[in-house]
Amino acid sequence: MLVDTFGRTATDLRVSLTDRCNLRCSYCMPPEGLDWLPKPELLTDDEVIRLVGLGVRELGITEVRYTGGEPLLRRGLPAIVARTAELEPRPEISLTTNGIGLDRLAAPLAEAGLDRVNVSLDTLDRETFKRLAHRDRLDDVLKGLAAAKDAGLGPIKINAVLMRGINDHEAVPLLRYCLEHGYRLRFIEQMPLDAQHGWTRENMISADEILALLGEEFDLAPDEPEARGSAPAENFFVNGGPETVGVIGSVTRPFCGACDRVRLTADGQIRNCLFATEESNLRDGMRAGASDTELTDRWRKAVWTKRAGHGIDDPSFLQPARPMSAIGG
Ligand code: GTP
Ligand code: 5AD
Ligand code: SF4
Repeated sequence: MLVDTFGRTATDLRVSLTDRCNLRCSYCMPPEGLDWLPKPELLTDDEVIRLVGLGVRELGITEVRYTGGEPLLRRGLPAIVARTAELEPRPEISLTTNGIGLDRLAAPLAEAGLDRVNVSLDTLDRETFKRLAHRDRLDDVLKGLAAAKDAGLGPIKINAVLMRGINDHEAVPLLRYCLEHGYRLRFIEQMPLDAQHGWTRENMISADEILALLGEEFDLAPDEPEARGSAPAENFFVNGGPETVGVIGSVTRPFCGACDRVRLTADGQIRNCLFATEESNLRDGMRAGASDTELTDRWRKAVWTKRAGHGIDDPSFLQPARPMSAIGG
């Protein structure tokens, strides 16, 4: 088991497969992109599967989520998913993606054993998409979503980050669209994880603001708190349900006390928190011939020292050196 000094147990492993992306969402990356990790620094497919396998067999991991950057850019993703699905006990396997390429990959991924996808969609307007993501790819995202639905990769969750003056007028249309198509929409408070370090609390659209925007058009009733478990989203029934909308208030309504996550970066570092300032290098140990026991010991130690919370409100808060795209969403 992966436990920390506060008694939390990490069962949800989030594995970043690449730091690259084909979008440049302004809450994440500058338009010119970043210095990507050189290929030799990335874990190979075999290394990923060895570590995920150890997590599942030895450390109590029950859910594996592949993320990026954009994980669909990782060549051989269906094979990685298929090998994950062969692990015993079989973990639940999910993917967080921007949707570009899902039109082609949704069916092979479902066949390989992928259970669910979460897709980022911040706007339904082509011009706003170009402004926010610096690429003209909205149609590709929508095509990808449709393919995911056809492939049975459900329930499909949609992640939307609202940015002041850019897409904050789209909360209602986004929810209408998702209700119409049967997608579960979650609005996410923007976190200080952008590479440009441009986050400010004033510009962040808070959970309260999101609920006020939606409340102008919909009747929202909170779900039972017990139904939430360790999920980051607070869910609200829309117009009496059964459909829901989620709000992920990472900053103003932190859920760190119930956190069950641990992360493996594309270059093989264990991070015990999105906001961790330290990482534990499993890759170099593995490449130097570390045994399974040595690797699991190191992993357990890395989780043990997890802090109580992200500390964004602390005066001494420091944004992690790596941006979200390199940590994994
Ligand atoms: P499921 O609920 O299992 O579908 O997954 P998820 O919501 O955890 O996954 P997803 O990758 O879609 O993440 C959605 C959002 O949750 C991210 O954009 C983050 O804003 C937030 N989030 C994910 N993990 C963490 C975390 O460890 N800490 C915090 N504060 N926020 C997180
Ligand atoms: N704050 C909140 N969410 C973010 N994401 C990316 N960067 C940030 C940020 N700074 C979201 C993406 C994606 C998920 C993995 O994380 O929109 O849906
Ligand atoms: Fe890419 Fe995700 Fe960052 Fe957007 S938020 S640029 S999709 S890594």
